[in-house]
Amino acid sequence: MRLCFASNNEHKLDEIRPLLPASVQLLSLADIGCTEELPETQDTLEGNARQKAQYVWDHFGVACFADDTGLEVMALGGAPGVYSARYAGPQRRAEDNVAKLLHELHEHSDRTARFRTVVALVLPDGAVHEFAGAVEGRISEAQHGAGGFGYDPVFVPTEGDGRTFSEMPLAEKNGLSHRSRAVAGLVAFLNQK
Ligand code: IMP
Repeated sequence: MRLCFASNNEHKLDEIRPLLPASVQLLSLADIGCTEELPETQDTLEGNARQKAQYVWDHFGVACFADDTGLEVMALGGAPGVYSARYAGPQRRAEDNVAKLLHELHEHSDRTARFRTVVALVLPDGAVHEFAGAVEGRISEAQHGAGGFGYDPVFVPTEGDGRTFSEMPLAEKNGLSHRSRAVAGLVAFLNQK
């Protein structure tokens, strides 16, 4: 089955590729000739994931799934949440987002946080299916590690040994991560079909 993953984020493609069954031919947006920025104007993770996957199906006619992820920090009332990519401004720079997050949490002792991902799958018959995944953790006081992307240098999963996602090899992050858990739901669904 040819299935597009509606993302230009090479890190995400690298994470997801090993999780999918061999029967799936994973296509990137570049592979299907989609060079435009996908619309992402909803105010929920579910809405944005659906919007991106639906856009690809409507404009390119390829079965597609999209993810949307938010980092929810308890002391900040769940922010940045659905606005995680633009937390420090429209330039969407990870370094700026992480710097702002560390600054906002400077005075807080409660640093608990969770990553939440929603994956939306749009099939050729028009049916839409959603899969969710989350990982609990905390925001470290400083950045650690060089791997991963986004908020990985400051996210310490509760189930780990104190290292941030950036300090873990990809397979280890995938063993714990929000996205791999959401993708596990997608894979179970695809394997049933
Ligand atoms: P999006 O789902 O790609 O829009 O991601 C929203 C924001 O969360 C962006 O700033 C991403 O860099 C960040 N993000 C998404 N997934 C991860 C992850 O696995 N680790 C760290 N940051 C992530």
